[in-house]
Amino acid sequence: VSQQKAYTTSFIIAGPIVHSEDIRALTIIEHGFIAVVRGKIVSVCRNTEKLMQTQQEYGIEDVNVYYLNEGEFVMPGFVDTHIHAPQYPNAGLGYDKQLLDWLTTYTFPLEKKYVDVDFAIGVYESVVRKTLASGTTTATYFATIHYESSLFLADIVERLGQRAFIGKVNMNHGTPEGYGEHIYDSFTCTEQYIRNIQCKRNELVQPIITPRFALNCDMQLMMLLGELAAKYNVHIQTHISESTGEVAAVQKLYPQCRNYADVYDRAGLLTNKTVLAHGIHLSDDELKVLAARGTSISHCPNSNTSLKSGLCDVRRLLDTGIKVGLGTDVSGGYSISILNAIRSALQTSTHIFFKKHQGSGYIPLSYHEAFYLATLGGAKALSVDDKTGNFKVGKDFDALIVNMRKPGPIDILDKTDIKDLIQKFLYTGDDRNISKVYVAGRQVK
Ligand code: GUN
Ligand code: FE
Repeated sequence: VSQQKAYTTSFIIAGPIVHSEDIRALTIIEHGFIAVVRGKIVSVCRNTEKLMQTQQEYGIEDVNVYYLNEGEFVMPGFVDTHIHAPQYPNAGLGYDKQLLDWLTTYTFPLEKKYVDVDFAIGVYESVVRKTLASGTTTATYFATIHYESSLFLADIVERLGQRAFIGKVNMNHGTPEGYGEHIYDSFTCTEQYIRNIQCKRNELVQPIITPRFALNCDMQLMMLLGELAAKYNVHIQTHISESTGEVAAVQKLYPQCRNYADVYDRAGLLTNKTVLAHGIHLSDDELKVLAARGTSISHCPNSNTSLKSGLCDVRRLLDTGIKVGLGTDVSGGYSISILNAIRSALQTSTHIFFKKHQGSGYIPLSYHEAFYLATLGGAKALSVDDKTGNFKVGKDFDALIVNMRKPGPIDILDKTDIKDLIQKFLYTGDDRNISKVYVAGRQVK
């Protein structure tokens, strides 16, 4: 933790404010202000009447009051609930294969290279810089099976100031030549890894137990990892029901289990701090189990389409009471940006709507729901909604200053109101429109 604070974490931002308080609607404040003291939100006002009073109350000087210009607004930072940092060099490559062949042809050979820490540091530095620049203030990373490289990812995340869950991957079954672990090493190394991160880092960086998926871990290892999660009270992440080939292989490997979700449930891996990526082909019974356990789904629509895995019905997950966040799933997905995940989620939902019969009453996702999934929904999926996800007093200030007048991918020529600017940003914006990024009040872009 850097002791000398070169940045100020106490300030006021005045202007248009946008955030989600629930999934039903956006909260839009046309001209208000947010006061931040030592990284935490101390007040959110719907007008600027009490601005000076608030300044005096918290001793915030005039130079630390930032007025947004026309075309700008402040919104919560994005939450990426599923991204593979080591796969970044493969983003955009390998979509001629589907999941299981893709893993053996492109993914495992790349991940093997992270035994080399210098290679790892180079990639991890770019991933964290790029995701922050794209507005990801909270990221949930898979690293690789390598202990040292995974810790370097934690170092980089901490130095650059992102909020993150970082997992050293576990793989002891059906592994390729040169990229696998023995059960004992996998377990002890994971315990060591958790201890290292829990005692050395700032509170923004957390470990997460990361069995790759049921095809790469045996039941004994998964049970040991479930015990570790309970012992250290840490999060868990893995993949579930992404492709039909994978589902069939899991059923064959675990004939005694009722279904895919039951494999993880028997291992004690389904907790209220578990995030499962994909979940495209889950049955109603499986969804009920996930809802009962408080387990969330990371919806990764770009990956689901790029790897031809299928269409995940987010509306169905939400209706079952499952917490859902968005994930880029780089490099199953080709974009590191949650803006892209928002667009992909909207398109996927529309494609599902096309397939429903007329009169089904099915309502595709709308932009304000995608905004929710990308911010508060993701924070809830990771159980960090007490810290981030929206601008509630008492939470950390994780935020983006969006500037739609800046040279971006599209020119705004007409007069637009704040609602139009939000939609324009979600559908047409990119990292050029994100002029500042804050995590816990620290400016990280
Ligand atoms: N299932 C197991 N490993 C992976 C992975 O690296 N990416 C995706 N998309 N699915 C997986
Ligand atoms: Fe993944």
